[in-house]
Amino acid sequence: MKEPKEIAFQSIGQPDLGYISVAQYEDLVPFEIKRVYWTYFTPNHIVRGNHAHKQLKQVIVAVSGVIDFTLEDSNGNTFEFVLDNPNKGIYVPEGYWRTIRFSHSAVLLCLASENYDEKDYIRDYSEFKHGK
Ligand code: TYD
Repeated sequence: MKEPKEIAFQSIGQPDLGYISVAQYEDLVPFEIKRVYWTYFTPNHIVRGNHAHKQLKQVIVAVSGVIDFTLEDSNGNTFEFVLDNPNKGIYVPEGYWRTIRFSHSAVLLCLASENYDEKDYIRDYSEFKHGK
């Protein structure tokens, strides 16, 4: 199974002018992007995610704030990422259970390989771990 990995986006610019970072198919994004969504205003005591995807691949960036992203495979291997800079991202392959915590004002940007499909979600943790 493919493993999640951190992506280091280039920061194009300089401190006195600001920066631009680019996520482009085949350079740092290993799938064609079909959907983009973003989440915001999540209070810091809330844990989001709590699901896995059967097929969906994602690249995730904290364009603002700090996001703690934990991924677990069905064998119990865990991967922890702290997204604390807009030039940092993670590639999330299919098949990982995710739990996500947000700092105040964090904005999570997701580039997704597929359109939204509730049937692609596994929302039951024991189904994820043991199958059905
Ligand atoms: P979900 O993926 O469960 O978000 P999180 O893991 O951050 O809590 O989605 C939350 C709700 O938004 C759920 O009712 C489905 C809906 N949704 C869409 O309608 N389209 C989308 O592209 C996404 C990502 C979610």
